[in-house]
Amino acid sequence: MPSRRHDDPARFVGYRNHLAEPVIALLADNTKNQYSQRKAIWNWLYQHNPFIGDKELGFALVGQNRVVGYNGFIPIHLLRDGELICSAWSFDTILLPEARGRGYGGKFVDLVKSSYPIVLGYGIGDLQAKIMLNRGYRASAEIERFFYSNSPRTVREWGKCGLQLSKRLTRSHQRVEVSNLSIDIGSARHLPSEIDRLWDSVKSSHKNIVVRDSAYMQWRYAMHPVKDYSTLVVRENNVLRALAIFEQTKKCANLVDYLGGANDREAMQLIVETFIMTSSSSHLLACTCTNACLKSALGINGFRRYRDRPKFYVYSNLDNDQDWTSSWFVMDGDSDVNYY
Ligand SMILES: CC(C)(COP(=O)(O)OP(=O)(O)OC[C@H]1O[C@@H](n2cnc3c(N)ncnc32)[C@H](O)[C@@H]1OP(=O)(O)O)[C@@H](O)C(=O)NCCC(=O)NCCS
Repeated sequence: MPSRRHDDPARFVGYRNHLAEPVIALLADNTKNQYSQRKAIWNWLYQHNPFIGDKELGFALVGQNRVVGYNGFIPIHLLRDGELICSAWSFDTILLPEARGRGYGGKFVDLVKSSYPIVLGYGIGDLQAKIMLNRGYRASAEIERFFYSNSPRTVREWGKCGLQLSKRLTRSHQRVEVSNLSIDIGSARHLPSEIDRLWDSVKSSHKNIVVRDSAYMQWRYAMHPVKDYSTLVVRENNVLRALAIFEQTKKCANLVDYLGGANDREAMQLIVETFIMTSSSSHLLACTCTNACLKSALGINGFRRYRDRPKFYVYSNLDNDQDWTSSWFVMDGDSDVNYY
């Protein structure tokens, strides 16, 4: 256990797999997630992630012979204005209760933000958010969460569902013709083989995005150890034009990813319409996104905005990087919010 700040024996170490066991134990203990599930996710994340490079996988705070704190990275490749940048999501900052309130949380944030040219954070708790903002991270004003209810419980919710339905019924005036497009529902365990070709053809339409090539999509969705994701595959004359990923439970269906043109209204509308139709047995449908075209497709189809914005933060060490926080393409499939 660390002693007081002035004679503190605890030290920060960058780690790779040598500290995997104690860090997983710390995570499992803190979040009540089972150790075996945490371990399966850890192995998938760090043994199969195609973006793993030479750098450390995170930082651990080591007290007297044991790990008392941890901050992990998810290594990623970013495409930023056409330039490829090795970057990372920062996730899961956790300190044992006895190590809190001693400045370690702030020090973790300082270490993490200087480790890559750009560091991203998504799904951040309130206290962690305050610590990050105080240390130079900036919040995205583009990210929003949308929902669509299939199960109204109160008179007010019934009224809102009426509004949802009327939006859907009138959307025919606003929708574009999609007659040459087809859409198929499938399992993400079997992704289409033409993902690299699709990524190459759409990547320049995005300003800031995590590289969604075949290696990434295979790792993130086909190989996930716990989740069984589904796909919506849009083709135009049999050629892959867009791909969306969603997950579905009785409680909630969540549209978690999209690979396609940043302004492809037709594909996005078809995806959202099909997502609603295929998720009729879920009480709630949800989607979090930054992209204006996708937000419009959700709105036209009756989705409503949550009042609170999720937290998506960016820190940049790049010289002359004035515009850190705008024009990102981010959804729930990015970062770790949808791992468990
Ligand atoms: C969140 C957490 C990492 C913070 O670490 P910490 O070592 O306790 O924080 P620090 O002592 O470095 O304090 C950092 C800042 O938070 C403030 N702070 C710390 N504890 C606080 C509390 N309970 N209430 C309000 N502010 C607090 C400090 O005043 C300091 O402010 P500053 O930014 O102006 O310097 C730690 O509390 C924790 O592990 N919590 C449980 C897991 C969790 O919630 N993780 C975050 C989500 S990934």
